[in-house]
Formats: sequence, C-alpha cells, structure tokens
Amino acid sequence: MKSEKIKMVRPLNENTFLIRFESEIISNTAQAGQFIHIKCFDGLDAYLRRPISICSVDRANKTFDIVYQVRGKGTGLLCAFRPEDEMDVMGPLGHGFTLHAEHRNIVVVGGGIGIFPLLQLLKDHPALKKTAILGFRSRAVVVLEDEFKEHCDELIIATDDGSYGEKGFVTSILEKRVQEEPVDMVYFCGPSIMMKRGVEILRQRNIPCEVSMEQRMGCGIGACLVCACKTKKGDDWDYSHVCKDGPVFDGYEVVF
Ligand SMILES: Cc1cc2nc3c(=O)[nH]c(=O)nc-3n(C[C@H](O)[C@H](O)[C@H](O)COP(=O)(O)OP(=O)(O)OC[C@H]3O[C@@H](n4cnc5c(N)ncnc54)[C@H](O)[C@@H]3O)c2cc1C
Ligand code: FES
Repeated sequence: MKSEKIKMVRPLNENTFLIRFESEIISNTAQAGQFIHIKCFDGLDAYLRRPISICSVDRANKTFDIVYQVRGKGTGLLCAFRPEDEMDVMGPLGHGFTLHAEHRNIVVVGGGIGIFPLLQLLKDHPALKKTAILGFRSRAVVVLEDEFKEHCDELIIATDDGSYGEKGFVTSILEKRVQEEPVDMVYFCGPSIMMKRGVEILRQRNIPCEVSMEQRMGCGIGACLVCACKTKKGDDWDYSHVCKDGPVFDGYEVVF
C-alpha cells in the first residue's frame, strides 16, 4: 500500500476521467492487464477499495495512467482528487495479459470500461499487425480514439445506436475478421456476455484467447473470495479469484 502522487487529471467526457500518477515502481513493474486497488476516501464512505485497470504506462517519464468512469459512490469520490494530491493505492495487482513474441496478427476486443487495459497491451505487444475493435453505447461516450489509433494498425469502433463507426456488436465484427484472415490471438475485456460470445466464435476455429474479468472486489489480494468466478478444473469447475488468479484468464478456462 502506497501513496502515489497525481500529476494530471483530464476529463475525457462528462463522467470519464484520466488520472496520471508519478510512480517509478508502478511504471517500471506494471504489466498490461494488471490493476491498482484504490482507496477512494479516507473515512467510512466507500470503505472498500475499488479496482481500476492500468491503462497506459510511460516508463521513460515514470508515470502511469488510469481512466475511470463514474459509476457509483467510490468512483464518484475519485472526482475530488486534484493534481499534487496523493492517492492511497495498492498495486500493480493481478495477473496481466500474456504477450507472445511469435504472434504476428492479434486482435483486441473491448467494450465500455473494458477498453482501458487494452491500450497498454497494444503498446507492449510485439505483433506485426494489431487490430482494435472497441464498442461503446454511443458517439458521446467514445474516448481515447487517438491513443488507440496511434498504437494499432486498424481501429474499428462500433456503437450500439450507430451514432459513430459501425452499428452493432463488436463480436459480429470479430466474427467477420476471423473469417477473412488468420488471427493468432484475441484479447477481450468488457461485459461478460460480450466475452462469452467472443469465445464461442473463436472456439469454432481454435483461436487462442484471453479474457479480463470485471468482478466486484474486496481485499484485492486473494483473501476474501468476494471476486469469485467459475473456472474449469479438468472435467469439473472450481472458483478462482479474479483479483489474484486473474483478472486475465485463458478464455477457454472461464465458465461464463
Ligand atoms: C480488474 C478490474 C479492473 C477495472 N478497471 C476499470 C477501469 O479501468 N475503469 C473503470 O471505470 N472501471 C474499472 N473497473 C470497474 C470499477 O472497479 C467499478 O466501476 C467500481 O468499482 C464501481 O465502484 P462505485 O463505488 O463507483 O460503484 P458502485 O456503487 O459499487 O456500483 C455502481 C455500478 O457499477 C457496477 N459495478 C460495481 N463494481 C463493478 C465492477 N467491478 N465491474 C463492473 N461493474 C461494477 C455495479 O453493478 C453498479 O451497477 C474495473 C473492475 C475490475 C474488477
Ligand atoms: S477481492 Fe478478496 S479474494 Fe479477490
């Protein structure tokens, strides 16, 4: 547990904010897909920490960024933080995405707040061709478009209402893509229903994939089981901890 100094706060839209921290340790050690566990308030309000993904790391300047969307009490309290303030964070925590040096063509698929950890994955992954398929409710909530464009070869945006990019589901776009060309690996982060459908599509072609699970958390370090999710164990299943065994899992191991 450590206090990290805030260098910058930038609104991305009316309820989504980027916070840049100065941190030599986290910027040096964080892997794409890991998260920090934040104490949003000093008192009893929002007593439990809230997990937020590490979105981007700048190792040269010793900073890292998170992006959060205001959902409820905890994330609402984060809006009070300003540059130069210190925030009590634990991290980097969890098991991040696996990078495969031999993979040539990768696709990342994100939905809503699930897009954030995929940015650092694109920055770090050595694949020659990287495609990002990102889904949002509508044009008004599209964020980080330029940042994603800079770190992939092709960015496809889909909105539920068709107000920007393609209309419809990111999984339909993924399905078309894997029919058209060989894809080595797909990384998902977003709503469970989206990842479940995505894994079903890939299973037909035996394309490996990883999924980053979004689960409510308590301790963040494997001690309380608040974050349980079902994973396959042989022919059976058992509970895994999203905080410690995940949040990133082999897509074929999760029982959705
Ligand atoms: C590993 C991990 C990484 C995450 N990364 C990010 C991120 O980069 N940016 C970001 O904005 N959010 C992220 N989240 C989600 C974030 O932790 C929740 O939105 C936050 O904890 C909600 O707290 P709250 O007190 O504001 O809302 P609450 O009052 O607790 O809940 C408000 C609403 O948010 C939903 N919610 C609560 N917890 C979660 C959760 N863990 N996942 C999804 N929905 C939730 C509730 O069902 C409810 O509808 C991440 C979650 C996990 C598990
Ligand atoms: S949050 Fe406590 S075990 Fe995962």
